[in-house]
Amino acid sequence: MTDPAGRGRSGPGRPLAGWRVLVTRPADRATGLVALLEAAGATTEVVPLIGIEPPDDPAPLDRAAAQVQAGRFDWIGLTSVHAVAALVAALDRAGGRTVPATRIAVVGAGTAAAARAAGLRVDVMPDRGGSAAELAACWPAEPGRTVLLPRSDQAAPTLPDALRSKGFIVTEVLAYRTVGRPVPPRTVRALRTGRVGAVLLASPSAAQALAAAVVPGGGADELVVGTIGSPTRAAAEAAGLTVTFTAAAPSDAALVAGLCAAVRDLAPRPVRGSSVAGTTLEPAARRRPPALDQDSAGPPVIHPTARTRQEAEPMPYPTERPRRLRRTPAIRRLVAETRLHPRDLVLPMFVKESLTEPVPLQSMPGVLQHTRESLRRAAVEAVEAGIGGLMLFGIPTHRDAVGSAATDPDGILNVAMADLRAEVGAETVLMADLCLDEFTDHGHCGVLTASGAVDNDATLVRYQDMGLALSAAGADLVGTSGMMDGQVAAVRSALDGAGALDTGIFAYGAKYASAFYGPFREAVDSALQGDRRTYQQQPGNRREAAREVALDIAEGADLIMVKPAMSYLDVLADVARDPAVTVPVAAYQISGEYAMIEAAAANGWIDRDRAVMESLVSIKRAGAQIVLTYWAVSVARRLTAGEDLG
Ligand code: PBG
Repeated sequence: MTDPAGRGRSGPGRPLAGWRVLVTRPADRATGLVALLEAAGATTEVVPLIGIEPPDDPAPLDRAAAQVQAGRFDWIGLTSVHAVAALVAALDRAGGRTVPATRIAVVGAGTAAAARAAGLRVDVMPDRGGSAAELAACWPAEPGRTVLLPRSDQAAPTLPDALRSKGFIVTEVLAYRTVGRPVPPRTVRALRTGRVGAVLLASPSAAQALAAAVVPGGGADELVVGTIGSPTRAAAEAAGLTVTFTAAAPSDAALVAGLCAAVRDLAPRPVRGSSVAGTTLEPAARRRPPALDQDSAGPPVIHPTARTRQEAEPMPYPTERPRRLRRTPAIRRLVAETRLHPRDLVLPMFVKESLTEPVPLQSMPGVLQHTRESLRRAAVEAVEAGIGGLMLFGIPTHRDAVGSAATDPDGILNVAMADLRAEVGAETVLMADLCLDEFTDHGHCGVLTASGAVDNDATLVRYQDMGLALSAAGADLVGTSGMMDGQVAAVRSALDGAGALDTGIFAYGAKYASAFYGPFREAVDSALQGDRRTYQQQPGNRREAAREVALDIAEGADLIMVKPAMSYLDVLADVARDPAVTVPVAAYQISGEYAMIEAAAANGWIDRDRAVMESLVSIKRAGAQIVLTYWAVSVARRLTAGEDLG
């Protein structure tokens, strides 16, 4: 961009005049950014700090490519040119690039160009391309359809999470790794001496590579550091860099605009003694020390706060400093009192008779009523994510007064349980809700007397039959959730009488009549009029929970559950601490707890991912060893990816 008069690159008046900017991408991907920077008056230095490497184990990608060719995926989502290259190479290894039945969505123009150059057709691309969020926004929802995402090891969960909440069944496969490259010594010197005043980081690996070069020795604290997105920012900060700004959108233009805004107040000045003074300039001093300003001309300025402090008595400094243990992510990890593991989590799932397509639930975004077929696929996905077990609920087409479909071996819950036993049986723990409310035409958890009251003892007989049917279908554990007196003993004796000695009872020990079951009513198309206050506990009763739990244990419960979870953490803590409770303790984070967080997050009022993790950590902290949650799969993936809990 040398101007016609030959006055050099950094014309005065332009926003980045006098700034030398380090661009950390591979040269073939840096041209657009370099042009924008130079148009704004900067000089640039391109030093790639990342390299792209294949995964350590290519087998999963190759398997995915073979599945693509077998037509197993409805969609492929491509979020970088590297993903295109890795996928195409795997398709070639697997026998060819023709993918007639599969549609392709790409994140932006660069990726689209790479895909087309490789002979792939592009079906969806955002108008304003660039970010996973924009891609997710323009991708039409097709619940139950399958998506393959060939990913980098650094990829954020934004896209898969968004697609799952649109009802897609998403398979992520590691396609390539982004690795940091050491910064050349010459560049390190340029950064330390201020010859390079700003650096733009476009990936977490580049941030780590830069930090490794400049943080240990110090001396680059005046460097202006810009990041393209928040994962890169987080990586930079975790590695000890001070990030000056993050681009408002994931594009080169936004990155340059962010840099212009960040340096607006920082007038450039010549490097003293530099051989290239006059063309290479250094930014003015920034981040002044808080009290004494010795950088400015004349005697040091003593600020009023400093004077007060000098004249006062010596400060009685605290000797106890708990903040020491919060200083770095690594220390916080080491001292974490509560840990969460994928195996702690159980996924409740809904299967509905005679559906032809899965149906997303309005009040529980991301949760589906499954067909038998989509249930199997989603169960495989859940098992692959490493969760501890599945809790199945069935929704029949036909309902009657006694809930006949619950005990019919061909009823939806029983056949779906048998499907799961065949599909994933040995690999996870299969549980089912043992309760009649999904099956009765009045929607109560038991059968009714002539006067319309819930008949405890007549219900126990139905529960016994239901326990036998579920056990025969292959359930490992039955979840007695109806809150009838004596239900655990009744079901245990029926199971034992039939020789089903290995079928266990997951007893809803303390279960409250809660308004937070609201969205569940949509999930099971509940027919209930009225409420369940004659059998479920009233919310204010804490000691009563101990009585309910003690009875269930005496009757033969193998595990004990408290439900709901978040409004009943005191009850959960009581049960978990009770020395008489020697069976595992679980809590059920129910439909309304899920819906509240999803709804607030959808409005932008809370950070969804943090709120989800905090809610689950709090349930574990209160004493649950096992947590039932509709987020089980996405949280398991985040935990496996090494995400911190705090
Ligand atoms: C009873 C049952 C219910 C839930 C689980 N088992 C509904 C109820 O007791 O009214 C609620 C689960 C949730 O809200 O997520 N079959």
